[in-house]
Amino acid sequence: MKLNSTKSGLSKEQLISKIIEKKEFSDLPIVDIENVFNKLNKPHYSDEEKIKLSRDMLRKIFSGFSSQKIFSLKDKSPEWHLSKHLSTRERLPYFSEIYSKIFSGLPKKISVIDLGAGINGLSYSFFQEAGFKVDYTAVESVGQLVNVMNDFFSKEKISAQAIKMSLFELEKLEKIIQKTSTPRVAFLFKVIDSLEAVQSDYSKKLIEILMNSCERVVVSFATESMIKRTKFKANRNWIIEFLAQNFKILDDFSFGGEKFFVIAKKK
Ligand SMILES: C[S@@+](CC[C@H](N)C(=O)[O-])C[C@H]1O[C@@H](n2cnc3c(N)ncnc32)[C@H](O)[C@@H]1O
Repeated sequence: MKLNSTKSGLSKEQLISKIIEKKEFSDLPIVDIENVFNKLNKPHYSDEEKIKLSRDMLRKIFSGFSSQKIFSLKDKSPEWHLSKHLSTRERLPYFSEIYSKIFSGLPKKISVIDLGAGINGLSYSFFQEAGFKVDYTAVESVGQLVNVMNDFFSKEKISAQAIKMSLFELEKLEKIIQKTSTPRVAFLFKVIDSLEAVQSDYSKKLIEILMNSCERVVVSFATESMIKRTKFKANRNWIIEFLAQNFKILDDFSFGGEKFFVIAKKK
């Protein structure tokens, strides 16, 4: 689409409608579009710039997959899909070990709420490999990723669900969590950067809320760039300090360029 205006004349609603004219964004929760737009709705940007910058940021946050094929090929194995997604690819050789560490000491039947899940639900068999029966719920904004997971669950007759929803919809999220049985473990795998890009300190608020209803929360970060395999320069000290000051760090470990923190309430 060629944007024909550089002056600021369109209303917020009109600009948001323009942003989602691109098919790739049309299916995202409107909360996510609005959050990104609000961040970039600055008086010194023209309408054209607001649209372009919002789309660039949405693409950065919601397109962390390497291949469109993830969405379409239904007859491929879960491992094939996991190897095509940038986030899960690096985790693939270590899933069983990672889940064993995360769930260590918990009862054998647990609920997992996987937030900003990507296609991580396809790693379900590794829960079993680690010796746990998991009632799994994924929350993810990108509808196509949600569909890939739900297709997999129904094909494999797995008791799990993926829900298309933004992590900024806190009330809905809390209701979903309350419906699951205890003990609960919440995953925030490689998603903190996306949340912080949209709203500073939102991940702190989210972790505090999750801690009210979950036995454990697991936060992970990429320690190497997923694209170039170079050491990632992002400064994680603020979140590590926050976790250490407010919660008990039960375990922390790294696998495949990813660092995990398993946290619980302080007794
Ligand atoms: C880097 S990927 C990580 C995927 C998965 N957690 C993993 O590690 O395999 C980040 C994921 O978070 C999702 N995401 C980002 N912001 C979100 C939000 N506000 N609500 C729901 N999902 C979000 C993106 O669509 C993307 O699938």
